[in-house]
Amino acid sequence: MRIKLTSISLLAALSLLLSGCAHKSEMDKYIDVLMSKMTVEQKIGQLNLHSAAGFVSALRVTENDENVKLLRKGELGGIYGTGNVEAMIEYQKIALESGAGIPLIFGMDVIHGYETTFPIPLGISTSWNLELIEKSARIAAREASSCGINWVFSPMVDICRDARWGRIAEGNGEDPYLGGEIAKAMVYGYQGRDGEYASDEVMTCVKHYALYGGAESGRDYNSVFLSRQEALNGYMRPYAEAAKAGAGSYMSSFNEFEGIPSSANKYLLTDLLRDTYGFDGFVVSDATAVVEMVAHGLGDLQEVSALAIQAGLDMDMNSDGFVGTLRKSLDEGRVSEADIDRACRRILEAKYKLGLFEDPFKYLDPSRKATQTWTDENRAFAREFARECQVLLKNDNAILPLDRNAKVAVIGPFADSKSEMAGTWATSSHNNEFVSIYEGIAEASNGKVSKAEGSWIFNDKELEESIKYGLMKIFAPNMSFPTLHGTSKTVLMAEAVAKAAASDVIIACVGELNNMSGEGASRTDLGIPDAQKELLMALKKTGKPIVLVLTTGRPLELTWESENMDAILVTWAAGAEAGHAIADVIYGEVSPSGKLTTSFPRSVGQEPLYYNHKNTGRPHPDYEPYKKFTSCYTDELNGPLYPFGFGLSYSSFEYGPVSLSQDEMSPDSEVIASVNVKNTGNYEAKETVQLYIHDVYSTSTRPVKELRGFEKISLKPGESRTVEFRINAETLSYFNHELEWVCEEGDYEIMIGPDSERLQKRTLAVK
Ligand code: NOJ
Repeated sequence: MRIKLTSISLLAALSLLLSGCAHKSEMDKYIDVLMSKMTVEQKIGQLNLHSAAGFVSALRVTENDENVKLLRKGELGGIYGTGNVEAMIEYQKIALESGAGIPLIFGMDVIHGYETTFPIPLGISTSWNLELIEKSARIAAREASSCGINWVFSPMVDICRDARWGRIAEGNGEDPYLGGEIAKAMVYGYQGRDGEYASDEVMTCVKHYALYGGAESGRDYNSVFLSRQEALNGYMRPYAEAAKAGAGSYMSSFNEFEGIPSSANKYLLTDLLRDTYGFDGFVVSDATAVVEMVAHGLGDLQEVSALAIQAGLDMDMNSDGFVGTLRKSLDEGRVSEADIDRACRRILEAKYKLGLFEDPFKYLDPSRKATQTWTDENRAFAREFARECQVLLKNDNAILPLDRNAKVAVIGPFADSKSEMAGTWATSSHNNEFVSIYEGIAEASNGKVSKAEGSWIFNDKELEESIKYGLMKIFAPNMSFPTLHGTSKTVLMAEAVAKAAASDVIIACVGELNNMSGEGASRTDLGIPDAQKELLMALKKTGKPIVLVLTTGRPLELTWESENMDAILVTWAAGAEAGHAIADVIYGEVSPSGKLTTSFPRSVGQEPLYYNHKNTGRPHPDYEPYKKFTSCYTDELNGPLYPFGFGLSYSSFEYGPVSLSQDEMSPDSEVIASVNVKNTGNYEAKETVQLYIHDVYSTSTRPVKELRGFEKISLKPGESRTVEFRINAETLSYFNHELEWVCEEGDYEIMIGPDSERLQKRTLAVK
């Protein structure tokens, strides 16, 4: 028998009904009056979003500006991509004196910090620290809003199981539960928790709705082939949680689902998002996603625009589909005025909620930027946060933390780079003022510290150039760039090896360039790029111990490194204070406490690779060799090199026995699972205790493990703490074959431990 939990869609319907019966809110009355005075063209104008001329802060608003022309015609509802308050004031004034005089909304890709750059989102997820994550969004909101921005294209909550996809860097990993918790924290951080927008709080735009991270073979923009059930269980939770937290807007994704691109997918945009999750804000398309439906093969621009608005898309980013064709579609009866009114109302509501009708210049105070961005306080937080976003994968002979008196050679193309600490989507960062790894180490060390670039990134110069400068070549085609590979690899390597040989320990700083992950940056090879790998091999020959400090936007295949390096510290792109935060960990100022949120593969052939996979009828143990007629590879193990949830500390933790307050529960009761964790090492350190469940028999198949709880605790040496998890029907539920969220009767394995593999199991019966 299955027990159905409260149907969310019913609740949503009820609240809709009640709100319909209640008196109209002030907002509704205001917008009624406003819309009664608007022409259809002006309403359509509100549905149009354009970028400013590139991502620029030095922008002069003139009558030749395309956006000014649109504003004068009343054909623009918002602008994104500029943080230049003076220019925004000009735009706002023009908006107010044109058409229906409706203020603009100003958007921006604020992804991991604004001027003060924090680690990339994948990095911040490895902190498992929701408090710090929320605070990072809070700071980003304050900085962005002081630059005129009131709408951020964040959080990016796409679950991704395939490290080949470059945008794995922008999300929070492979787990929907953790992703959901982080999504909420980000929404609260940006928007605040009271449902009102203060002038330093901004509206979120949750992206990319939906399922973008399921791109087939990790190739960007690719089709997504998932069943509804798998989509709901494995991917949708973060989008749903963000709606619960009150996210103000969503961005429709580029991919298709069930044969319909997201931007025209009624099931996603209306049935799920609004009717099930109760979302009542507006949905903007991703950039040019509307016109891209022509290439998807759904029709011409007029047709795809009509399909989009009818499916529930409200705003068109950079396609000019709505503004260019909806009037015609209305005249031809292809869309109704109600379709246009509905979308327009949602956008006006967002502007109302932001307080823009009361004060269109609420966010446009030019005096704020000087004191509220890139402050010492924000940088201090960037350092504190980045310390928690590093994952120690290996530490043989406790080589870390390093002795401050050791002679250190900091080697590699990332050793003294500031800008490569920024990561993807850091358009407003102060790259030149970042702290490089070498600088951080030199400042913290008492010994002699040398540095050397050591190698190119790739042996293929054209490839390196196209990756490093590819983005800029699109935005600034006339710009000239520094020549790469100016020094021969032999010279670079000889210098590095000499310095390494003269040191006590090598800190090898290698990895991926910023532009090797993020949008349009898929890879089929997940290794450290060839030129750098050669450097590591040469360094290995010196016989000196090597600490590998990895800068990366994705999980990499580190099989050789795991056998040949003495320590491996994954630092992602660690942001503005990278060097300080990395030195803090390397010298033991703090113990590393990050844990992986994506599985690290042994071979790219294992991708997609994720811990919460299902069993097959012929399961094969993760770490046993090939066996005919079982689900495995002839040439590789099934298990990851480093699993989800894994990360070492300088300390050690002893987990006591896991206990359940009862062995049985009914669906309307609750059981407490608890475990005592003791710091048995010599360092004060943090540990993330993880709770997983497994439904032994269910009416449709379920993953072998599912994360359903975690708590990050801090313990002094010798200190212990009992961690408790409340387990109820919600903890155990899933979407069954009929797509109902249910807790089924029967036995569940309740598993607790330090990562997704080292788990203690108890059985809980639901009756
Ligand atoms: C395309 C990206 O997919 C999206 O993440 C971003 O917010 C928009 N461009 C706007 O820059």
